[in-house]
Amino acid sequence: MGISDLDGEIASHQLYADPERMHAVFDRLRRDDPLHWTQAPGHPPFWAVSKHADVVEVGKHPDVFIAEPKTFLLDDEDLRVRIAETAATGGKLVRTMIHMDDPDHKKYRGLTQSYFMPANIKRLEAIVQDRARALVGRMLEREDGCEFCNEIAVWYPLQIIMTLLAVPESDHAYLLKLTQQFLAPKDPTLKRDGPEAQGKGAVAREYFAYFGKMLAERRAAPPTDDLGSLIAHAQVDGKPLGMMEAVSYYVILATAGHDTTSSSMGSGLYHLLRQPGELERLRARPEWMPSAVEEMFRHGTPVKHFVRTAARDHVLRGQTIRAGEEVALMYHCANFDDEVFEDPRAFRIDRSPNRHVAFGFGVHACLGQNLARASMRTFFQELLARTARIELLGDAAFIASNQVGGLKTLHVRVTPAAATAKAAQGEGAAA
Ligand code: HEM
Repeated sequence: MGISDLDGEIASHQLYADPERMHAVFDRLRRDDPLHWTQAPGHPPFWAVSKHADVVEVGKHPDVFIAEPKTFLLDDEDLRVRIAETAATGGKLVRTMIHMDDPDHKKYRGLTQSYFMPANIKRLEAIVQDRARALVGRMLEREDGCEFCNEIAVWYPLQIIMTLLAVPESDHAYLLKLTQQFLAPKDPTLKRDGPEAQGKGAVAREYFAYFGKMLAERRAAPPTDDLGSLIAHAQVDGKPLGMMEAVSYYVILATAGHDTTSSSMGSGLYHLLRQPGELERLRARPEWMPSAVEEMFRHGTPVKHFVRTAARDHVLRGQTIRAGEEVALMYHCANFDDEVFEDPRAFRIDRSPNRHVAFGFGVHACLGQNLARASMRTFFQELLARTARIELLGDAAFIASNQVGGLKTLHVRVTPAAATAKAAQGEGAAA
């Protein structure tokens, strides 16, 4: 049976605000037409790549499936706005390594590759630990509970990446707002308001104003060992980065570096609390933290899809993808493929192996994955060590975005470890 009745949903942002419906659509897609030519009304057609094996296969051919000219799906209206907004910049809002193919991709990625390697991430542990300690402290102060996503999770990776870029703390809230508008342009509560709400152009202009100034300041000063200075003083082909590329570098680190991790924190905590016994199992077996974190990445898969365009004809899963056609790598859908993951809807802190594609696959695979892992481990270790109990209060809500998303709100209450110990002592004395 065909599945063209699903095309509108496959292309939509709204699907991701309703996880049950999302999984129902994903299941049918993988089962009935795993490489599906999707023709949604008001949307250019694209191949939906839903199987894990095919996401990996596309990732192995970066010469065929190229990043230019589009990274995310755009509907007809998005395209109209984008063309109008970028007429002066050759069709581009930003030009980050995600938008590049070789040889440029390799050159630009190479500038910060070693900064994100495990040896250097270890050097950053103190920054990560400090931020985790402060935010868990904030949760503990809120005796009546807190809204975890907006009060805690969005701040943690933001503060880490902004500290690495050496952005002043007073600007963190402003940059958080820009990032949310950039990555969830269709979510009713996160998107930009007013006459410029339609595209991402106005947000990109604000980024250029802010980071352009920062770039000039860093270039005027001698090099220091923060990431902001590293990019300002970096060279490609013997020349400093152009304004577009340098500011875009700041933008990609600011955006890729925090909404994704905060989203994994929200969905990670949510699933730990919802899947009976998993939180207690993790308390009892802290050595499972690394695999628990991988399962958080898989289950939440914050980056829902990325787009590639075929540079030439290529046969995938027996179908010919023609030069110029778009493929959407549906990372979230692929991470629930039962040919790869046993009982994929279950959240298992000891899932092994866990070959998820939450960080993508191939030359564009996430540059910040070691930082994301270290941040998540540190936060959950701190949270578990300092709490005796974590309760879910009410229902969670999800972001309507087919780009980067996850939980929008999650109300929880924590009981400090020491308070429970004291209460137990009190009860013991009373008995
Ligand atoms: C849970 C956390 C994260 C997730 C799920 C995630 C996911 C991803 C994915 C799926 C891609 C591949 C995009 C593509 O297919 O084109 C990617 C690329 C990238 N990520 Fe992450 N990311 C996370 C955290 C971070 C952090 C903390 C940083 C940096 C501070 C970062 C920086 C980047 C960069 C620079 C790229 C582009 C790599 C390239 O094009 O070569 N990410 N990420």
